[in-house]
Amino acid sequence: MKALLKALGGVTAVIGAQWGDEGKGKVTDILAGHFDVIARAAGGANAGHTIVVDGKKHIFHLLPAGSLHRDKPVVLGSGMVIHLPTLLGEIKTLEDAGIEIIDRLLISPAAHILFEFHKDIDGALEEKRTRGIGTTRRGIGPAYMDKAARTGIRMERLAENLKVYLDERAGDLRRVYGIAVNVDQELENLARAREKLRFTVVESLPALMADFLSRKKKILIEGAQATLLDIDHGTYPYVTSSSTTAAGALQGIALPPAALSSCIGVVKAYCTRVGSGDFLTEETGERGEGLRKRGGEYGATTGRPRRCGWLHLPDLKLSTAINGFTHLNITKLDVLDEEENIPLGVGTGLSGEASYETLPGWKTATAGITQFKKLPINAQKYIKFIEEFSGVPVSLIGTGPGREEIIVR
Ligand code: GDP
Ligand code: IMO
Ligand code: MG
Repeated sequence: MKALLKALGGVTAVIGAQWGDEGKGKVTDILAGHFDVIARAAGGANAGHTIVVDGKKHIFHLLPAGSLHRDKPVVLGSGMVIHLPTLLGEIKTLEDAGIEIIDRLLISPAAHILFEFHKDIDGALEEKRTRGIGTTRRGIGPAYMDKAARTGIRMERLAENLKVYLDERAGDLRRVYGIAVNVDQELENLARAREKLRFTVVESLPALMADFLSRKKKILIEGAQATLLDIDHGTYPYVTSSSTTAAGALQGIALPPAALSSCIGVVKAYCTRVGSGDFLTEETGERGEGLRKRGGEYGATTGRPRRCGWLHLPDLKLSTAINGFTHLNITKLDVLDEEENIPLGVGTGLSGEASYETLPGWKTATAGITQFKKLPINAQKYIKFIEEFSGVPVSLIGTGPGREEIIVR
């Protein structure tokens, strides 16, 4: 771990390389203990990051998974869209577990507030589409619509009375979508949030982050969503509405690009996707079902079964090109333990289908292994194949959901 930490340097971003749920939360939690500041930069409560500590499951949607580390400042960046009741709920869960967060929570004044009505618009837009995107219905797209249209409300206005704004929006939304906005409910949510979060909204995110940098504080940014869901570089229109890449993380957290010293690409040892859109290496039959069962592939946010299939290495190359991964974390290797052989997408055929290279499986339990040399030789070969194809060192390998179930190379 010491050598890895040295190589990571002062500012590290943890970025999903596929379609999300790669296990970003787990690696963030593990690394957070060695960093000074833990941050989320973009996205909202469409994220679901599950970590397992001492056998206990914790699910984060807005706070970074590193929030369990008691003494670390936690920053929510300008790129985020924040559903206030969800945030209050997460804070309460931590407090109930004896973990105080309010005094170390620092929220950007430029982060947007995601209202209940954004969720209603999300639902209405999904119903209207001939082929739905399969959004999480957490209101993400509509909140970013308001942000881009410059009709949104940012955290800096938390203390204001927003009744006039909400009444006006209610009128518009009734006419356009036939949605009945519950203005009283929105106002009550705001009042509750104001009481709890008043002192957590900082004056300026750029100033805060510049101060951390000048004091040589080590900063860990937990990405949300993933590269193939990025609004610009993902499989549009089957994407989310934020910038999910390393560059997006820096933009969202107000750090200069040159400040980033390393970027960890988080890659599931196979592949999953929730929602619609192409998935070249998908296994719709029994093998996919097997991966889903062994990997527990059900969404942490919506409970939806995740579509399962194999790793597609050209996609990993694309993600590497976009993010400049300096290290990879291959997660959930243990889920493949029972496979006879493992197909790896290595290219695309003439009619657009995936072409595969198939590696032999290892048919041996790897769960809980913490040393690379203790892995079965075929598992080592599998990792090395990915490493060679992508050209990025695999420095971390997940062998189970628990905090300690990881190989650091
Ligand atoms: P995130 O959104 O990228 O943080 O990933 P999620 O938390 O949504 O999904 C990853 C799931 O896999 C979680 O339930 C984790 O507890 C679990 N997980 C993470 N790493 C491993 C691993 O190495 N092995 C196994 N079996 N489970 C893992
Ligand atoms: P984490 O951070 C997996 C997917 C949705 C849908 C598309 C658009 O846990 O990896 P949205 O609600 O964002 O408008 O939905 O993006 N999606 C995710 N899939 N993990 C996520 O986050 C996701 N966040 C959004 O399923 O296909
Ligand atoms: Mg997730």
